[in-house]
Amino acid sequence: MIRVDTSKAAENLSVFSSQLSEAHRWLQKATGRGNDFVGWVNLPRDYDKEEFARIQAAAKKIQGDSKALVVIGIGGSYLGAKGAIDFLCSPNYNLKKKSTPNIYFAGNGLSGDYLQEIVELIGEEDFSVNVISKSGTTTEPAVAFRFFRELLEKKYGKAEAAKRIYATTDKAKGALKSLSDAEGYETFVVPDDVGGRYSVLTAVGLLPIAVAGVDIEALMDGAADMMETCRSAEIDQNPAMQYAAARNALYQSGKKIEILAAYEPAFRFMSEWWKQLYGESEGKEHKGIFPASVEFTADLHSMGQYIQQGERHLFETVVRFEKSSHTLKVPYDAADGDGLNFLAGKDMDYIATQAMDGTLLAHVEGGVPNLIIHAGEKSAATLGELIYFFEYACGLSGYVLGVNPFDQPGVEAYKKNMFALLGKPGYEEKGAELRAKLGR
Ligand code: PA5
Repeated sequence: MIRVDTSKAAENLSVFSSQLSEAHRWLQKATGRGNDFVGWVNLPRDYDKEEFARIQAAAKKIQGDSKALVVIGIGGSYLGAKGAIDFLCSPNYNLKKKSTPNIYFAGNGLSGDYLQEIVELIGEEDFSVNVISKSGTTTEPAVAFRFFRELLEKKYGKAEAAKRIYATTDKAKGALKSLSDAEGYETFVVPDDVGGRYSVLTAVGLLPIAVAGVDIEALMDGAADMMETCRSAEIDQNPAMQYAAARNALYQSGKKIEILAAYEPAFRFMSEWWKQLYGESEGKEHKGIFPASVEFTADLHSMGQYIQQGERHLFETVVRFEKSSHTLKVPYDAADGDGLNFLAGKDMDYIATQAMDGTLLAHVEGGVPNLIIHAGEKSAATLGELIYFFEYACGLSGYVLGVNPFDQPGVEAYKKNMFALLGKPGYEEKGAELRAKLGR
């Protein structure tokens, strides 16, 4: 079970007791700001079991008839699945010998080269597509889907292509839903009351994660365990409350940047998921901790200097996992040319633990408070716990900060400009105004 250690952050958490109790009540009773988007709170218990079985069946079918799955989505419709597959299967998943399909993520940007490379990597292999968009209208995934739909239809014909396209979208509305109904694609639902960045435990994340061979029941069980833990209104029983309180206390003391650190390269994309979760939930009304991330020990050799001695507006949250699944001991070398025999016979986990402890003490001494999240072993259940823990803490933390943690009004600004510059019907006036500003 997740344990939060705030002892190296030296903050008094009780200051936030009453705000946290209120925030906790708002989440549990769905009575706070943005309360129509708190469907994720009970999701690990109340998820649609019939759809869950369909997800498992679809994953099995894709594993049987495809060598590759193209997962098309952006933001909350992308990062959770990518993070979970990297963490539980490996960032080198596609390079590994395995019985499950390669998984390529597309529609998460607008690079033509990136898209073309995926097409080339798939080559002549059989493939399927999972297009994920809650709104069904997001430009990046919609454009990518056109490419891969055309590719599928050319390769298999329209009818067979339709059997290889799985759409995860709104249950009733949006362009993707209409297209799916018209073409007969199998569809999965992004629930109305679950926003993109809180949707990894819906079909949005579960289908790609299941295709990669992950036990999604264990993932949901882990999340359900954490959901029960987070029901407690007692701060000493509720790790999400402890984390939310500590980060708000640090923010108030002038620590405006939180660096999420992990000593597992496989966690890198979970950090990207976490950045979206916290950045999009809290960064509004000119407030909010800026979420950053590092991968240790690699980044100790790049960002380590700044963290140790740069501007003191940082704190770190370190996610620590229990030992690796492999025991790797440093070989003995009689010549000892590199002078490393003092480590001979020592396990990599032992060396990593000393690096973690040494770094922790150095950074705290350098003025960077550290919160430590002890996450347990690396497993699907642990990841489920972590996902729920971070989501619940984020909801609490946003409420304590005084914002609506479930909207994202700022994301629209770039979209409007992009549509105007691309000449989308209805944006003519805005387009002229922007072109004038750009001197075109
Ligand atoms: O969290 C969010 O709401 C966003 O990151 C969305 O997930 C992202 O913009 C993709 O939206 P959609 O799923 O509607 O295509």
